[in-house]
Amino acid sequence: MPTMHAPSGVGMGMSVVFALTLLSRPIAALGTNFLNHTSLLTGREDPDWFEENIPFLDVPDAQIQAVYYYRCQTYKEHLVYTGAQYGYMASEFLHPVDYGAPYGGVVAAAGHHITESRWLRNHQYGQDIVNYWLSGPGTFSKPTSDNVNADTRDWAHEYSFWAATALWRQYLTTGDRDFVVGQLENLVKQYRGWDNHFNSSLGLYWQVPVWDATEYTAASYESSDPYHGGAGYRPTINSYQYGDARAIAAIAALAGNRDLNTEYTQRADALQKAVQQILWDTNAHFYKHRARDNNPSGALLTTREIMGYLPWMFNLPTAASHSAAFAQLKDPQGFSARYGPTTAERRSKWYMHEAATCCRWDGPSWPFATSQTLTAVENLLNDYPAQTYFSAADYLSLLRGYAATQYKNGQPYVAEAHDPDADVWMYDTHDHSEDYNHSTFVDNIIAGLIGLRAQPDDTLVVNPLAPSSWDHFALENAAYHGHSVTVLWDSTGSYYGQGQGLRVYVDGSLAGSRSTLGSLTVNVGPVVAQTISSQVNIAANGQKFPQGTTPSASYTSPYDDVWRAIDGIIWRTGIPENSRWTSYGSPNARDYFALDLRRPQAVSDVRLYFYDDGGGVRRPASYDLQYWTGNAWLTVPDQQRSGGSMSAATSNSQTKITFPTIVTSQLRVIAPNPGAGNGWGLSEFEVWTPAVFQLRNENSGKLMGVAGMSTANSANIQQYDDNGTRDHLWEFVRAPGGWFKIRNLNSGLLLGVQGASTANSAVLQQYEDNGTSDHLWRVVSQGNGLFLLKNKNSGLFVGVDGMSTANGADIVQFEDNGTKDHLWSILPAVPAS
Ligand SMILES: *[C@@H]1O[C@H](CO)[C@@H](O)[C@H](O)[C@H]1NC(C)=O
Ligand SMILES: *[C@@H]1O[C@H](CO)[C@@H](O)[C@H](O)[C@H]1NC(C)=O
Ligand SMILES: *[C@@H]1O[C@H](CO)[C@@H](O)[C@H](O)[C@H]1NC(C)=O
Ligand SMILES: *[C@@H]1O[C@H](CO)[C@@H](O)[C@H](O)[C@H]1NC(C)=O
Ligand SMILES: *[C@@H]1O[C@H](CO)[C@@H](O)[C@H](O)[C@H]1NC(C)=O
Ligand SMILES: *[C@@H]1O[C@H](CO)[C@@H](O)[C@H](O)[C@H]1NC(C)=O
Repeated sequence: MPTMHAPSGVGMGMSVVFALTLLSRPIAALGTNFLNHTSLLTGREDPDWFEENIPFLDVPDAQIQAVYYYRCQTYKEHLVYTGAQYGYMASEFLHPVDYGAPYGGVVAAAGHHITESRWLRNHQYGQDIVNYWLSGPGTFSKPTSDNVNADTRDWAHEYSFWAATALWRQYLTTGDRDFVVGQLENLVKQYRGWDNHFNSSLGLYWQVPVWDATEYTAASYESSDPYHGGAGYRPTINSYQYGDARAIAAIAALAGNRDLNTEYTQRADALQKAVQQILWDTNAHFYKHRARDNNPSGALLTTREIMGYLPWMFNLPTAASHSAAFAQLKDPQGFSARYGPTTAERRSKWYMHEAATCCRWDGPSWPFATSQTLTAVENLLNDYPAQTYFSAADYLSLLRGYAATQYKNGQPYVAEAHDPDADVWMYDTHDHSEDYNHSTFVDNIIAGLIGLRAQPDDTLVVNPLAPSSWDHFALENAAYHGHSVTVLWDSTGSYYGQGQGLRVYVDGSLAGSRSTLGSLTVNVGPVVAQTISSQVNIAANGQKFPQGTTPSASYTSPYDDVWRAIDGIIWRTGIPENSRWTSYGSPNARDYFALDLRRPQAVSDVRLYFYDDGGGVRRPASYDLQYWTGNAWLTVPDQQRSGGSMSAATSNSQTKITFPTIVTSQLRVIAPNPGAGNGWGLSEFEVWTPAVFQLRNENSGKLMGVAGMSTANSANIQQYDDNGTRDHLWEFVRAPGGWFKIRNLNSGLLLGVQGASTANSAVLQQYEDNGTSDHLWRVVSQGNGLFLLKNKNSGLFVGVDGMSTANGADIVQFEDNGTKDHLWSILPAVPAS
């Protein structure tokens, strides 16, 4: 869009949906108000979202601070609302890549995404990301082909993934025991998904370097296949599986499952021993790759690679002497670099070999590994005996280098890889890797620099790695166990005016203090649980499913696209990527953008995100929200529009419009253009409703209902023409482990299987919520807006008896035999009451 220019402010809009409704009191009332949030958010788009969700940081290091807020913003940018079935997921590249899972996820950085999301006050984001991988699209079958990993069968195993560890760390911060316990079965399944990579005589897992997200490593160049790299027993997957075994054992203990706790404790103990015995190079004092094939002597690679620090990311090493490895992180011939660390030691013959061409992981500085290494150091400094190899001061200079890395042209920026010695990003292609989301930073600041060490009990350990030479620093209103925690350091007492020393506040009250910088344990009280709303955005249709909401407009700029205003994505204005509809260049005095919801729906909550680039596209001076009555467009009566808040005037901020429920099949926004060919635009148009759907069979075209509209237990489920009765409406209710209960709106009873049968052709019935697992379902996307409905108890899928197309035919369960009667459309159909 040529005449547009980005405002200097960077920021992003995204919905505050759940956070706003779950807090009965404003954050300031829950926490403290020492920092000036308005000032810290200057230039951010949609500052209200940050106020609701992030802890505020104030440190006497301008780059660390600027990158912190920038990374909170890139976090927001990567939240993609995939649709009513799977909610939010985290993207990695802003545009989906062809080797990703359905809806665009790539599992390589999922561990980072879950860890980084744990400090957001709204838990739905982090929990949806977990469900996406462990119960949603991550569990779908993928091809077993070379381009997406020939050795694994589902998307959550395309790349290595430390799922249970990331989830355990999320739990330590949120305190949400039910959520993490609900994931136990999923985590065991994920863990066992690597069984075919296990060599039981060595007691180690192997992985191919490219499936650790690293092509062309030093190890790869020593194999016959430098792109993939030969399979090896590697510090990566063995550390991940070790960490995950410990995490599963801990979650099993929470669940009271002794057998599982014992089994995974044993798995962890065995791996811990094997890694230290086999992958530790006693001469090089380093953990290394050992080639699996053509390596009869079991030799370790000569080169030290940055992944050698991963064992500490999971607290694997027990031998204190192994801490000597950290000397390499400061060694100019090791990994030390101004924009480092490097991914291979400089003394290696492979260092930066062919690195001018994308993508080499034999030297270039890589945020994915840098953030893992910082986490390893945080554990070394917190959990290991005192040592002389790496100090808190060394940690700070590593963190400073990481912050300095995340700049481009003087502005915060993150892409795929950075030159270790020069201030330049490598492999930084236009419209691809801007704001690349493949690492953590926020978590390193909070858990490392400021030192919030989350605990499984009612305490919090605060152990800042920040230097005592800093006269002040603060982290304000961090969400922890449902409480708000503030940490202040003020060496004289005059900076914040609250007293001298280190002070920790919980929910606004002083909970602990000490005069020097050091570790402090405070009591935070019992966890305050957060209820996640089950409301869904029925407008989102990023996949352009033919049954879904369709957009249209009176005019669309040739640079833009109507579909992008319902793609579930809101990017900041300053990046080249485009996720918006605009009327830029319109000949009309006014334009509208409209949504066809496909059938009458009861709506009362619309959220608009106006786009404003400060040039050719501006927020409209005024606008009208209208609905289709069946023969005319009318203004939606009694609209309450959010406003007057910090966000009101920025591009991409949320305007929430609530109104008394109306029933309509179409909505539109109509607004005047500013003139001279300039326009207005929407990054997103959301419609939030309860999760109520019709279930339409693809073979018969009929809807799932209850025989004779019965409200009795054990009534049969049947298909019927769409005759408008209430027994054709089903509400999806979130259940633990990413399962759904499916409740009939007429009877209030749940969809289940007769006698909880596990046999083919057993009839579906409705039954009161009695806690049996035949009442739990998953939806498995088949593309094109069609889904399989899978029963938890039987593992079978919903179909129609004898593939009948007649009214009154029974709905049954059957094995996945590929017939068309197993395909269902899940159609939003929200009734007025
Ligand atoms: C906070 O910062 C804003 C913007 O920088 C400023 O206008 C306001 O006066 C400050 N508030 C206080 C209480 O200092
Ligand atoms: C990437 O996006 C996910 C989801 O939005 C988030 O959990 C993570 O913090 C983001 N990471 C960065 C570095 O922005
Ligand atoms: C396991 O590793 C040992 C030692 O390298 C090797 O001899 C054996 O063939 C491996 N087993 C499998 C199944 O790969
Ligand atoms: C509508 O469908 C239900 C079954 O879902 C059936 O019991 C009812 O008789 C039908 N009503 C009419 C008017 O066809
Ligand atoms: C629970 O519901 C199922 C049907 O979904 C039924 O077979 C089972 O007998 C019920 N169990 C109890 C204890 O009511
Ligand atoms: C496939 O499943 C349907 C029930 O959904 C059943 O009627 C049909 O006979 C099955 N076909 C085969 C070939 O198993």
